[in-house]
Parts: sequence; structure tokens; C-alpha cells
Amino acid sequence: MRKLFSFLALSTIALSSNAQNIQQLIDQKAKALLPKVIEWRRHLHQNPELSNREFKTMEYIAAHLKSLGLEVKTGVAKTGVVALLKGGKPGPVVALRADIDALPVFERTNVPYKSTVIADYLGQQVPVMHACGHDTHVAMLMGTAEVLASMKKEVPGTVKFIFQPAEEGPPGTEEGGAPLMVKEGVMENPKVDAIFGIHISAGLEIGKIRYKSGAFMASSDWFTIKVKGKGAHGSAPWNGIDPIMISAQIINGLQTIVSRSEDLTKAPVVITVGKFNGGVRENIIPEEVSFSGTIRTLDSKMQQDVYDKIRRTATNIAAAMGATAEVTIDNKTLVTYNTPELVSSIVPSLKTAAGADNVGEGTWTTGAEDFSFFGEKAPAFFFNLGGMPKGAQSLMWALKHFAILCLIMES
Ligand code: NI
Repeated sequence: MRKLFSFLALSTIALSSNAQNIQQLIDQKAKALLPKVIEWRRHLHQNPELSNREFKTMEYIAAHLKSLGLEVKTGVAKTGVVALLKGGKPGPVVALRADIDALPVFERTNVPYKSTVIADYLGQQVPVMHACGHDTHVAMLMGTAEVLASMKKEVPGTVKFIFQPAEEGPPGTEEGGAPLMVKEGVMENPKVDAIFGIHISAGLEIGKIRYKSGAFMASSDWFTIKVKGKGAHGSAPWNGIDPIMISAQIINGLQTIVSRSEDLTKAPVVITVGKFNGGVRENIIPEEVSFSGTIRTLDSKMQQDVYDKIRRTATNIAAAMGATAEVTIDNKTLVTYNTPELVSSIVPSLKTAAGADNVGEGTWTTGAEDFSFFGEKAPAFFFNLGGMPKGAQSLMWALKHFAILCLIMES
């Protein structure tokens, strides 16, 4: 973890020419601070909070940043924290972002700092866990702030530390996350010249960094299609207009948008229907049904094109059958785009911090990140950091294949 947050410190000063001179100093300070970073991470892990409810997390972060003498603002986008470190030398404004929220997931580990927290989520009592690893992001950024604050005079320009709530998505209809932070002006005053973010990865070995220039993570949209037909008895379908059968045709039609009409050599597209609501009884054709899903694209023009084709496909298939289809699309995140010039200027710093062999260009992913909203306002770079213990993959592989072997032998 030392190498990881020493990179964060290094990246803020890599835009200046004296990066090489202070690299060693940062490394020493990061090494000395490592036990504290681990302690913070474990505290956060044991005390996870859901999106837009990160009240104690906010206080914990703010108390640390204030103790470093930074200018600290709390309650940004509800439960976010933003701190400024004004360096002793002239230079750009560099923002470093960590997301701070946890998920409604039950923790199955046996570590001494495991979460046993239960909280309210949309009226339900749910277990809470830092299952996405945002606790590591917070601890690393708290450590980075401490390292940089201790060498303030050497820092060229200003560092803006952004601790962002609700990356997992605010509950219900609440606003939150990166879009709300941007709306509240987090990228202004002072205006951010470049922003960086990290996500820990459970599928990448500890110490490794994977990045991609240009489009890196997908845009995410949620859509709902309401199909209105005409109810009838199931024994006499000719008296009605069956919205379930029409929906099945629309769902097939949506998959042909991906397989027949998007140029998949340019970028991948995914359309998944994950929810279907309709009907009350086996022998009744319902009046109306609805289904919902998600759209993933890695190109904003393709994203708009897919919107148009979903609307066209749904409404025209429904019309052909004498029904109507109402389509609503709700944008959740944009394409996470890594500015190529920024990436090429920063990769040498990544290699210095993590070792050249550990840094490599990866492929894009159809997962999504609301970090993309910051990238609309300034050059941005977001990448993955390995969090998987060395050798775990081969162990997983062996277990999986052993299990398959047992099943074959038993059958
Ligand atoms: Ni995450």
C-alpha cells in the first residue's frame, strides 16, 4: 500500500520538473506512515456507511485533515469532504479523489476488523460492508494528505483532496455522488487543472497497476420500458393484446441492436435486461408490463445512438402488435475517459512509484464509475490498483477446476 499512496503524492508533483528530487523523500515518508494508513483502513472497514449516510466517515476524514492544518470543507454533496493544500511553489491545481461509501452487503470474512454493521436502506435493515474497497481509497488519500502536508514548501501549486460520497449511487431519488459534487462547484475555486482517481481491484495482484488511455470504463444508463396492451383471459388471447409476448420480442430486438447494428470493432456495447414485472395470475393476460435494464457503452456517440435505437425498436415492435411502449432512460455515469496527454505524462510517475514491471496498459471494462463526471470538467486519469494477494488467482483456478473435476466424476 505504501507504493500505492506514494504514487498519489508523486502524481501531484509530477507536473513539475523537480519530481525526481523529492521522490526519495516521499518514499521514506510513505514507508514511515504505512502502519497508520493500515490502522485507518481497518477502522473504516469496521465502520462502513451507506451512500449519502457517511456521517461518521466524513467526521473521521475531516478530523485528520484539520489536524494537518489544511483548509477543510465538510458537507459537500451532503457527506463529502474537500480539503486544500496550498504548496510553497507556484504550480497547477491537482485534485485527488477517493470515494468513501460502502455497500449493503454481508461480510463473510473472519478478519478481526470485519464489519457487523446493520443500517437502514430504503426502509429495510441491511448489513453494510466496504465490499468495493473504498475504505482503502480513503486511507490512502488520508496518507497522501499527511505526506504532502509535511512537505508543503516543496509542493508546487495546490492539491485539492476530494473525498466523495455516494459513488455506489444515492438511495432512491436522492441526489449525490460526483454529479452533485460537480454541481456544487468542487472543480472550481480554485479551478482544477487535472484530476486523478484510483480503484482497488480484487482481480489484479498486489503492487500491479493497470491503466488505459482514452475510454477506460463504460457509461451506465438504466432504462425502463412500459408496454401497454389489452387484458384478456389466457384461454382466448385473440380478445386482447399480450404485453408479455410483445415484451419478449422487444427484449430480443434490443439484443440485435448490439449484435447487428453497432460497430463492435470500435467499442463494446452491452444491453442487459435485469428486471421484469408483469402479470398477476397464470391464466390472465395482463393489461401492462414493464421491464428494466442497463446500457453500457465506451463511446459517447454510440451511447446516444443506442438510446435512439432502443426507443425505435421498442415503440415500433409494440406498434406492430397494436400496443404502445414507453421508454425512459436514466443516465447514471458517463464514459470514464482518460485524457491521453495526461496519461502519457503521468505513466513515468506510476512506474517510479510501483516499479516499471508492475505498470501495464490494460483493456477497457464495462463496469462504470461516476469519476467520469469530474473528467468532464478537467483532464482526468483513473486507473486500477492490484489488491489481490499474490498467487490467489492460481489458487482460485485450482479450486474451480478441482470442483469441476469432482462434478464430472460424480455424474
Ligand atoms: Ni467502487
